[in-house]
Amino acid sequence: MLIQENIQLSTLNSFGCKATASYFCTIKRKDEINEALSWCTHQEKPFLILGGGSNLLFTKDFDGLVIKMEIKGIQLLKETPSDVTISVGAGENWHLLVKYCVQKAWGGIENLSLIPGTVGAAPIQNIGAYGVEAKDTIQQITAFDTYTKQWVTLKNDTCQFSYRNSIFKREKNRYIISEVQFLLQKQPTLHTDYGAIREVLHQKQIKQASIEDISNAIIEIRREKLPDPAMLGNAGSFFKNPTVTLETFNLIKHDHPALVAFPISDSEYKIAAGWLIEQAGWKGKKQGSVGCYEKQALVIVNYDHATGMEIYNFSEAIIQSVNNKFGIQLEREVNII
Ligand code: EPU
Repeated sequence: MLIQENIQLSTLNSFGCKATASYFCTIKRKDEINEALSWCTHQEKPFLILGGGSNLLFTKDFDGLVIKMEIKGIQLLKETPSDVTISVGAGENWHLLVKYCVQKAWGGIENLSLIPGTVGAAPIQNIGAYGVEAKDTIQQITAFDTYTKQWVTLKNDTCQFSYRNSIFKREKNRYIISEVQFLLQKQPTLHTDYGAIREVLHQKQIKQASIEDISNAIIEIRREKLPDPAMLGNAGSFFKNPTVTLETFNLIKHDHPALVAFPISDSEYKIAAGWLIEQAGWKGKKQGSVGCYEKQALVIVNYDHATGMEIYNFSEAIIQSVNNKFGIQLEREVNII
């Protein structure tokens, strides 16, 4: 395993921000994880696992070892008349996995089409879109536990999955994921309940949608609403949709009848952060090289060589402004380094 020094990370993060890794290596096999971690222990340096770099913001250089996860492979473990179990290397590109499964007509992750990033990153923030979350199909995860120095298998119910959260996010840097196992269906229940999906299917006059139709519809919707990181630096939703109590919801609704929110239990509501940000006047706004995307206020974009710190400060200004207007403290979805 080759460890390089002073590597520029700007092409390895979807914001395109400049940051230097003091040390850098790529990992293609499981045993190289142990090797890289022993190196960190000996050198007394921290490590950072990098997948697609699509959910992080470098606000400074990283004085440690950046480990680029490149364990590949899609393996069919089991096939029955109704489902398949596959094991996928953490370094596989998420959307390529979705395309592969769609082609095979294995259902379950088609609503997660076109999400940037890698397979190993998917369970960390339990990626989700259009009524589906990664946790719905993940069976188990193979990871190196850096606390016990053992390889472990975590079954779905021990991963503490919730909205954009998991044990991997809560116990940051404890587990290094090498493989994710998925259970996919041959006759899946398709999730077409999102208005936008229904509209696209209706436009195309598709009455009996296939897995591929759903995937295509979602690709179309995402291309229309979200900026392509290859063209315009961004990390998708920068903030999470906040959860508030029924009481807070009622108070805000009273002052702002157009509030966009969805009940998630008898006593809690999830509020559309994009709506809050838009109402606070940020949608389409630009400050220097940073901006709030004109078609989706949850997304912060790097128009032209913005630094990570400029993007961070912009997000801070949004958080404060939303808090002043609505009394809601937005949380970042993106990891700040
Ligand atoms: N809205 C606005 N203004 C905006 C954006 C949204 O008013 O600028 C309102 C609209 O009324 C809309 C509602 O918010 O009906 C919800 O918007 P949308 O359906 O676009 O979903 P979202 O809550 O903004 C979440 C995910 C996205 C995912 C979509 C679709 C989070 C943080 N984001 O966004 O995920 O694609 O749902 O399911 O939960 C990502 O995480 O990077 C991401 C793109």
